[in-house]
Amino acid sequence: MLSGNSYNTFPTLYDLLYQRYLASVPDFVSLIARHTPAKGAILDLAAGTGEVSIPLLHRGFAVTSLDRSKGMLNVLQAKAKKEKIKNARVKICDMQRITYRKQFDAVCIRQAVNYFIGAKALTKGLLRVRAALKPGGALIFNAPNYHDEKAYPPVANIYDRGTRHAFVLETNMLSGRLLKHVQYSLVWEDGKKPEYVTDENSFYMFTKKEFNRALRHAGFFRILFSGSGKTLYCVANI
Ligand SMILES: C[S@@+](CC[C@H](N)C(=O)[O-])C[C@H]1O[C@@H](n2cnc3c(N)ncnc32)[C@H](O)[C@@H]1O
Repeated sequence: MLSGNSYNTFPTLYDLLYQRYLASVPDFVSLIARHTPAKGAILDLAAGTGEVSIPLLHRGFAVTSLDRSKGMLNVLQAKAKKEKIKNARVKICDMQRITYRKQFDAVCIRQAVNYFIGAKALTKGLLRVRAALKPGGALIFNAPNYHDEKAYPPVANIYDRGTRHAFVLETNMLSGRLLKHVQYSLVWEDGKKPEYVTDENSFYMFTKKEFNRALRHAGFFRILFSGSGKTLYCVANI
């Protein structure tokens, strides 16, 4: 039995267990490409296993992939090597502590801006993101569109990735604005015994209005939200 957090405890299982959340990657990558000059410098914050960084590298952007989990970045590097990408640049760092100055044409954060816990942390983080951007640069992120929901029903799925398979039951518990996400999974490889995996992480739910306010406080001025229903997409310029 494995229990903990896929980012830190079993990062090699992340791409298998989180397939539901990887489906929107192509649209997100296209959005970044539309708002970044050709071959531009991109900082992928909380880059994880590189599901965004790798397609951006294939498109010729100069990508720095930053994450606080060494294990997730190891997976990214292994994937880049397999795909014969030579210029994958990774940095192990907490995104709340970045100190870049006017280096990037774009900063992207996919499925991770909610790890800024609370409005203060979000504004502080966005100030650092703004400092990292060149004049005219863009921040592109996605996030759940919080609408005062009271409950998030469980979801079950079966996933396959090569010879590996998983049955995943996702549960969510909201306490104030903190959402505790717990996945109970059975993971197995062809011809082998299944293993039981419990994976837990928590993040903060923001409304669109709160994102807008924090972006303005941090000095972003052209803020465009798109997306419908459950997910917000945001492009904000300085
Ligand atoms: C849901 S994954 C998203 C990965 C990637 N952006 C993607 O779209 O596939 C969240 C990632 O955020 C990272 N993370 C969470 N909090 C972080 C922080 N404060 N600083 C840097 N990385 C963080 C985790 O280690 C994990 O790799």
